[in-house]
Amino acid sequence: MRVVSEAGELGSGGCVLVPTMGALHAGHLDLVRLGARVAHDRGITGGCVVSVFVNPTQFDEKYDYDRYPRVLDEDAAKCSSAGADAVWAPTVEAVYPTPESMRDPVMPRVAYEPKLEDVARPGHFEGVCLVLRRLFELSGARAAVFGEKDWQQLQVARALVPLIGLETEIVGHPTVRDPDGMAMSSRNRFLTPKDRERGLSLSRGLLAAGREATPEAGEAALRSVLAEAGVTPDYAAVREAETLMPPPGGESIGSRVWRAVVAGRVGSVRLLDNMAWPLT
Ligand code: PAF
Repeated sequence: MRVVSEAGELGSGGCVLVPTMGALHAGHLDLVRLGARVAHDRGITGGCVVSVFVNPTQFDEKYDYDRYPRVLDEDAAKCSSAGADAVWAPTVEAVYPTPESMRDPVMPRVAYEPKLEDVARPGHFEGVCLVLRRLFELSGARAAVFGEKDWQQLQVARALVPLIGLETEIVGHPTVRDPDGMAMSSRNRFLTPKDRERGLSLSRGLLAAGREATPEAGEAALRSVLAEAGVTPDYAAVREAETLMPPPGGESIGSRVWRAVVAGRVGSVRLLDNMAWPLT
């Protein structure tokens, strides 16, 4: 596998970027396979490039940034088996060459209006918007693949691209789940068996929500499953899928697309998940 640190080594024909922070799991590898397919189908000469960059500007806790797993050799081997053409692991200095470049991001409304991840993790989307802009610009990404697990992040990426004058196509990949229903995440490795069992209340609650007839009843069902498991969510809501804003009163729900979203801390790990509402 070609592992490069300089964006200049990626070539000038553009690529399909799979942005990651490394510690790749099976869910990421599905994103890589999709990226490789998109690059092939569209004849994008730079192929599928996986960026591995633990982005310092998007962590609200330094402890979380410091303990984030860094396993580049393992990641490169996995990327190779999933069909990536290159792994790009830039340095912090290359992504953020000046102190100013770490501040004042351009941000779309979905990054600060919904009061979901934006409130639960203050500063997080500032960092995501900063890094995505740099990663897209430096790599010349013609398309970029994101998992649907981070639903608000996917909407942020989609809305950010036109705001910063780029044409990168944002491609979403459905959440990859373990057989018990848990959405895959690099942080799941820190769950004790007991916490993992409690953490399953997120996906179970989303399934319960999706069977209800109104967003309000869906939210109540989700909250009740979480409460039974003793999980206090940061948020548990049914929102408009693209803007992530709450249902406006008096409007027929059938005229919009909805998403049930949830996040909360279980043991030492913060979990998040989402599903279509109602379930299809
Ligand atoms: O989802 C992630 O892993 C990160 O937020 C991303 C998109 C790689 C930006 O650092």
